[in-house]
Amino acid sequence: MTAIFPDTAGFAGKIAFVTGAASGIGAATARRLGGLGARVVLADRDSEGLAAMAAEFEEEDVLALDIDVTSIAVVERAIAKGVGHFGGIDLAVNSAGFDLARCETGEYAADDWERIISVNLTGVFNALRHEIPAMIVRGGGSIVNVASVLGLRGFAGQPAYTAAKHGVIGLTKASALDHAAHRVRINAVAPGFIETPLLGHLNDEKKQAAALLHPMARLGEADEIANVILFLLSDAASFVTGACFDADGGYLAK
Ligand code: NAI
Repeated sequence: MTAIFPDTAGFAGKIAFVTGAASGIGAATARRLGGLGARVVLADRDSEGLAAMAAEFEEEDVLALDIDVTSIAVVERAIAKGVGHFGGIDLAVNSAGFDLARCETGEYAADDWERIISVNLTGVFNALRHEIPAMIVRGGGSIVNVASVLGLRGFAGQPAYTAAKHGVIGLTKASALDHAAHRVRINAVAPGFIETPLLGHLNDEKKQAAALLHPMARLGEADEIANVILFLLSDAASFVTGACFDADGGYLAK
């Protein structure tokens, strides 16, 4: 059982915007924010998953929006809806992402490159672009981008995902510098391999091999990443911005 982030974190009454909220790390984080008293805008392209997640909340505490983060106009409208519905946005988690099966760079399809970059990197920019102004008018806020250990190391057969996640960490640093004076903190988390539907393309043998890449010799759980995200979102991390926090069972320590 994963330890639970303290209920003294100051999330009660805050409004959070979470992309990728229908599944995995985004869902775990949204659920925990709700449990700690935040009202949550759930944003995802998976309408069924969204409906299931929304059903876990009191109706007045949740707004579920079926969006594709690759469209900046769609993201802008979603954030405006969230602001209109709840009165503003204080917290954001940019977790929408996906991955494809491994393929070497010399054989990588240009279309796959575009798809991966548009969700995993441009999608984060699209969200930041409209979350930040919404927070500035509130006097500040806190954002966490979900990167990856592949944002800090190369990984054979994943050129687009690796490039996108390196980009997310660079974007986190640049945007944190731009908006530190506005009291908007922007950080990233770099998870190791986490047991979520994102790893669905791996069979048991490949999952076991992935587990063994971590000195802790297991996959992580979505709630273990949610804990780190909650810390970075919270006032307990009030002097932390532009940082990337590893949550990886020791993967990057090697
Ligand atoms: P997941 O597959 O459980 O959840 C990802 C969610 O993003 C899904 O609900 C999906 O519908 C949504 N999504 C994908 N493309 C979208 C789009 N264009 N617009 C809106 N929503 C979209 O996967 P997981 O593991 O929770 O992934 C969350 C984040 O964590 C991703 O950014 C992923 O790259 C990152 N990550 C995951 C790791 C893992 O091993 N599971 C490891 C390191 C990072």
